[in-house]
Amino acid sequence: MTVSALETMVGEWITVASSDAIDPGYPLAVEFGGEEVLLYRVDGLLYATHGACTHTYASLAGGYLDGYEIECPIHQGRFDVRTGRATREPCEEPLRAYRVREVDGAVQLSNTPF
Ligand code: FES
Repeated sequence: MTVSALETMVGEWITVASSDAIDPGYPLAVEFGGEEVLLYRVDGLLYATHGACTHTYASLAGGYLDGYEIECPIHQGRFDVRTGRATREPCEEPLRAYRVREVDGAVQLSNTPF
């Protein structure tokens, strides 16, 4: 599912979704800086990564979230959503991970690199 970004500038943070739009166990795709970014809620905490698998660039939006790992729907490679690190072949290159926070019911991403 893709949610159009609200994109309200708040300093370096940009609002991309409402907190209640993220279902635990499922990635939520949003647009951020012209790119697809996935938001994940695992054990009550939020994480965000780029949405394209680094193997052959399939969207991970339809992937399977297993704990802290997102599994690519194409070749079943995996990434740790906390860091973007590739955890299962054929994926080797990491996903970009984003700084994410919740403020007053809004989910915000930062352009500042980790
Ligand atoms: S496209 Fe994701 S593992 Fe191949």
